[in-house]
Amino acid sequence: MTGSNGFIGSHLVEYLLVKQYEVTCLVRKTSDLRWIRDLDVDLIYGDCRQRESLDEAVKDHDYVFHLAGKIRARDWGAYYDANYTGTRNLVEACVDSNRGMKRFIYVSSISAAGPTDTAIVQTKEDECRPVSDYGKSKLMGEEAVRERMTGIPWVIIRPPNILGPREEDLYSVFKIIRRRVKPLLGNGDKQTSICFVEDLVRGIEMAATSEKTVGNVYYLTDPEVYSWREMADKIAEYLGVSGLLLPVPYPVLFVVASLLEVAAVVTGGEPLMTRKQLRELKDSYWLYDGSRAEEDFGFTPKIDLNKGIEISIDWYREQGWL
Ligand SMILES: NC(=O)c1ccc[n+]([C@@H]2O[C@H](COP(=O)([O-])OP(=O)(O)OC[C@H]3O[C@@H](n4cnc5c(N)ncnc54)[C@H](OP(=O)(O)O)[C@@H]3O)[C@@H](O)[C@H]2O)c1
Repeated sequence: MTGSNGFIGSHLVEYLLVKQYEVTCLVRKTSDLRWIRDLDVDLIYGDCRQRESLDEAVKDHDYVFHLAGKIRARDWGAYYDANYTGTRNLVEACVDSNRGMKRFIYVSSISAAGPTDTAIVQTKEDECRPVSDYGKSKLMGEEAVRERMTGIPWVIIRPPNILGPREEDLYSVFKIIRRRVKPLLGNGDKQTSICFVEDLVRGIEMAATSEKTVGNVYYLTDPEVYSWREMADKIAEYLGVSGLLLPVPYPVLFVVASLLEVAAVVTGGEPLMTRKQLRELKDSYWLYDGSRAEEDFGFTPKIDLNKGIEISIDWYREQGWL
């Protein structure tokens, strides 16, 4: 598995171990291994951008789960290298070194499909209009799978916004709200699909092992959609700070994002939030229909937004993060 030490990957590793799989994690020398260090897995070193480092990692495995990717990067080149070149290299390694595998699973993103213009849920998996560099590079990764994965069955999963323990983006929102500040994205009415991480990894494994999913693309998502305002209110409610929030208007958030981008250039890191991301969230609906996953392999999420927020906040508190 690639991306195994990350947020979703580490949950998938845990789930696969419970299901009695033997798991090999492709990690980098620089990877932070805190979530998988104590798990009964084999580690193999490699970098998806380096083609020659991947053959050994994919050899003799029945399933290759590809989750490595860059969600935030300073420029197009970094998205392209990680999400497109990295995926293409891994696909080529599989074709060259493990043609007999049972399934290649690429974890893409709803960003590859792009936002939905209106509050109408997108049902078709083949209509893609990505708007961000991230989304465009993830779609190119999907194309590398479709075009180059000859002779090996594959499936593509497009998760929506994922919440759960270890997640660090929504966590920043939790921290802001705990300080009684309410970030306002537009008027907060734009809606999004979400999924809780434990549901997502269960769905990924179900998709990997179902015969019906070969060559298909699936959204794995809570059937309910939620507005940003609704989400902020639920977070505030569970944190016990409702009613006292100081609204921070969009223009202020925009300035903060600009400063974060400048800071990232100065420090050589990746911006926590960019102006482009903010614009996308404020202006767009991100709504997707997961019913095909239910029809083809019986996947339905078990944890709704309320429960997901509750579990996440409890975990952040246990870790001393909140
Ligand atoms: N989180 C979400 O809400 C969400 C939603 C939709 C789709 N996704 C997709 O799900 C996947 C996992 O996301 P996540 O939230 O778990 O991200 P994450 O916590 O940032 O983890 C990213 C993982 O990718 C690895 N990686 C990045 N570049 C690599 C490279 N060149 N070679 C090998 N490994 C590399 C990272 O390893 P290092 O530790 O070494 O950097 C890390 O293990 C991504 O592909 C993302 O596009 C996520």
